[in-house]
Amino acid sequence: MPADPLDRNLSGHVAIVTGAGSGIGRATAIAFAEAGAHVLGVGRREAPLNETAAAHDNIDVLAIDICGEGAPAKVVSTAVGRWGRLDHLINNAGATAVMPLAETNKQTIVDLLALNVVAPSLLAHEALPHLRRTSGSIINLSSTYGHRPMAGGAHYSATKAAVEQMTRSWALELAGEGVRVNSVAPGPTRTDVMLHAGLTPEAAEDMYAYERDRIPTHHIASADEVAYWILRMADPAGRHATGQVITVDGGLELI
Ligand SMILES: NC(=O)c1ccc[n+]([C@@H]2O[C@H](COP(=O)([O-])OP(=O)(O)OC[C@H]3O[C@@H](n4cnc5c(N)ncnc54)[C@H](OP(=O)(O)O)[C@@H]3O)[C@@H](O)[C@H]2O)c1
Repeated sequence: MPADPLDRNLSGHVAIVTGAGSGIGRATAIAFAEAGAHVLGVGRREAPLNETAAAHDNIDVLAIDICGEGAPAKVVSTAVGRWGRLDHLINNAGATAVMPLAETNKQTIVDLLALNVVAPSLLAHEALPHLRRTSGSIINLSSTYGHRPMAGGAHYSATKAAVEQMTRSWALELAGEGVRVNSVAPGPTRTDVMLHAGLTPEAAEDMYAYERDRIPTHHIASADEVAYWILRMADPAGRHATGQVITVDGGLELI
């Protein structure tokens, strides 16, 4: 569900959305643009980013690997150079991995940490001086499995637990300066994330069917339904909430 077009509460704001070429990141970039923000959408592949940019005039894109040397500084300086300020950093780019302990390998752990923990940390570090000026906000994407165990996905789950603890710790550290830090933790959401993790389309469908049975609302979220909450967490009218993890999973975390 895109933002209500009458709701222009982010007019004049500038947001960086990582992973904006697909899934939740694309829906978030569009929702922020519809709410009046200028958006820098970031990802590695240019073609999907350009499709996101085509959805709204307020979206510019930057094709870059956020794990690359110097990339976080380049992302932030591109947004600030283009629009002169930064109000919101949406640390959305992330990956999952199905990796039971018996199949654990070092490279997968290193890659998950680099994308899900190190890159968002360095982006937040680079963004901070600008967010201090605007009393801005950071929104980090976690997962239901950031606070629930995930059999066969321990390291993914661990990276999202790290995201949640960084969220709370940075929120406490920055509260006195007016910078808010929150997380949105989706449950299973229909995107290409499982294909990007190497599952076949059939295996991904099986997984969604299994999760749909378990989720109390028996609904797999769309990317727009998650973007709705990311946008709400950025709303300046909600400025008294910081250090929170809002779970958007149809009640999955409750079971
Ligand atoms: N879908 C779910 O069920 C679900 C559930 C819970 C949490 N989440 C979280 O929600 C977030 C978004 O997930 P999604 O489902 O929308 O996944 P997705 O469709 O796979 O999107 C991930 C995005 O991140 C970008 N990305 C990956 N590596 C990158 C890198 N090194 N540098 C820059 N960009 C990179 C990808 O674009 P390129 O490949 O072009 O770089 C892609 O657009 C993730 O943090 C994920 O963990 C998703």
